[in-house]
Amino acid sequence: MILVTGATGNVGRQVVDQLLEAGERVRATSRDPARAGLPAEVDVRRADLRDPDTLPAVLDGVDRAYLFPVPGQVGGFLAAARKAGLRRIVLLSSQAVTFDPRDVIGRAHAEYERAVEESGLAWTFVRPGAFMANDLAWAPAIRADGVVRAPYGRAATAPIHERDIAAVAVRALLDDGHAGRAYELTGPESLTAVERVRLIGASIGRDLRYEEQPPDEARRQMATHTPPAIVDAVLSILASAVGAGAPVLPTVEEVTGRPAASYTRWVGDHAADFR
Ligand SMILES: NC(=O)c1ccc[n+]([C@@H]2O[C@H](COP(=O)([O-])OP(=O)(O)OC[C@H]3O[C@@H](n4cnc5c(N)ncnc54)[C@H](OP(=O)(O)O)[C@@H]3O)[C@@H](O)[C@H]2O)c1
Repeated sequence: MILVTGATGNVGRQVVDQLLEAGERVRATSRDPARAGLPAEVDVRRADLRDPDTLPAVLDGVDRAYLFPVPGQVGGFLAAARKAGLRRIVLLSSQAVTFDPRDVIGRAHAEYERAVEESGLAWTFVRPGAFMANDLAWAPAIRADGVVRAPYGRAATAPIHERDIAAVAVRALLDDGHAGRAYELTGPESLTAVERVRLIGASIGRDLRYEEQPPDEARRQMATHTPPAIVDAVLSILASAVGAGAPVLPTVEEVTGRPAASYTRWVGDHAADFR
């Protein structure tokens, strides 16, 4: 039995689907199973990583786990996992661990990785760069008036489809040969925000406009739902990505045997969100 935490998240949902496709028995956690909307064959159980008492019941009988790292709660999960006899763990980490060591996002993920290494469990780290799914934040504005207002339109990333991140995690869950490996992942092309807006427009058949948003305005807006230190880190990563192409890595294809999905393919998979 394989446990998937954060199973209602961008990556977690895909991990669940791909494990089922591979014929595995899957247990998934949600803080609210009734609203999780996961496939019927999944054993969905309530767990909150902030409440260690909920963990033994979800870890019982499980030998491998995909871990979505809830900030500050990785140690508690690992202690419960060791007690329950978990054998292997695949941690959703971040490419930010390879960035400037002062970056708070990278530092947090490096700490989770260290805790997993020290747990004694066999591990694999999945370190994606920017998610294509971040651009779902543009969907309401695109549906409303077709104008995307965002900062650093010329900052390039090589964003990755959540399905490809999950595909690498699933390979690592199914094959012990991936133990001890850290996989840095990107999508297949370097794209600026301006270019991504253009690709969304071409894909849904509408003329969309990108409007450069001053960083301070973006900072205020993001701070309504994201901790200020994270907002600063995200804006500083974008600022440093202006005017340079983002490196494209071959890891998805190397691990899964299939090329990473294009941005246009991702937009097609989310067309209903943008229309
Ligand atoms: N966005 C990027 O560009 C990017 C790049 C690299 C790395 N990352 C990393 O990727 C991760 C985000 O992955 P994601 O987008 O797949 O996640 P997500 O969509 O944010 O979903 C995570 C899920 O975790 C569950 N959750 C939240 N708090 C919880 C708690 N206290 N206990 C148990 N479950 C909890 C929630 O499910 P329920 O509500 O059902 O419980 C939620 O659906 C972060 O660690 C981020 O740093 C992101």
